[in-house]
Amino acid sequence: MAALPPYRQGRPAPAEGYKLSSNENPFDPLPGVAEAVAATATAINRYPDATALTLREKLGERFGVTPDEVLVGDGSVALLAQFILAAAAPGDEVVYSWRSFEAYPGLVTVSGATSVQIPNRADHGHDLDAMADAITDRTRVVIVCSPNNPTGVTVTADEFEAFMARVPSDLLVLLDEAYVEFVRDAASVDGRTLIGRYPNLVVLRTFSKAYGLAGLRVGYAIGPVAILDAARATAIPLGVTAAAGAAGVASLEPTAETELLARVAEIVERRTRLHTGLVSQGWPVPDAQGNFVWLPTGADTTAVAERLFDAGVVVRAFPPEGIRVSIGEHESVDILLGILGELVPASQEGHPK
Ligand SMILES: Cc1ncc(COP(=O)(O)O)c(C=O)c1O
Repeated sequence: MAALPPYRQGRPAPAEGYKLSSNENPFDPLPGVAEAVAATATAINRYPDATALTLREKLGERFGVTPDEVLVGDGSVALLAQFILAAAAPGDEVVYSWRSFEAYPGLVTVSGATSVQIPNRADHGHDLDAMADAITDRTRVVIVCSPNNPTGVTVTADEFEAFMARVPSDLLVLLDEAYVEFVRDAASVDGRTLIGRYPNLVVLRTFSKAYGLAGLRVGYAIGPVAILDAARATAIPLGVTAAAGAAGVASLEPTAETELLARVAEIVERRTRLHTGLVSQGWPVPDAQGNFVWLPTGADTTAVAERLFDAGVVVRAFPPEGIRVSIGEHESVDILLGILGELVPASQEGHPK
């Protein structure tokens, strides 16, 4: 327990402020989705369907797989935990890029295994060659996060294929695509096109981000049945509530999904506006393909985060590396550009000023 810092959630925003610290979707739930959730209230004296079959059927149709090749969990972070617990134990290693999703180290520690963190490249993307080099006979899981939280950079399809060619076919690879719906760079890996191609690949996605269901906790994995069965075995039973399952199903209805994806397009537009604005101010920001932007503030991280907080904007600071700013309400983009324009770091070697 001493080795395990507790998961820290983003700070709450001040009243009238903007919470841009948890990569949440700023739009209110769709009425149809909220109604589907409300309809489950009349049966909350009953346990939910433990396997979320209706949602698995819908996702199976969409991805061209059977419902058994889909595993639904109470958030994709729960699924990550299940896969790591299923595959790794004391003495084993789990390889992933760093900095990446802050939950990975804790999940690996809980399994008893050891994290092998491979530093991101200078452009803040995964160094997949170094990750492949780090694989030993103790490695049980490799996690690839695209777009990478918190840096926003994707792995390209070519890089991923070259990486998979170097990975032993019995080593579990988790492709974490929590933000895939926000990707606009066509060269990026897309797990959907890889389904069925590798016996050791599991693709993880979530309804928390693009579909705006973070509060309900529902994510899914697609992969070979035997691997998913192992993760079913390590799950805490009955984690996915009927409300979460119903919200997932309602979000995939064509009218609802069209509207949700239009909102994603709106968020992407705001991201482009923020990213382009920061680049023209001289900020050395990397490519941003998720619903967030990474500011490499280095030693100034805490000071910049405090300055934003004082202006009512809560961001996620990772001192002494940088700050992740989620794309939120429309007005927040101009506020950010106004404040950050005054805080452009002095020119750094290798970065545009
Ligand atoms: C990269 C990544 N994976 C997984 C998750 C977990 O999402 P959820 O458990 O809400 O599905 C997050 C959440 O922030 C994330 O950033």
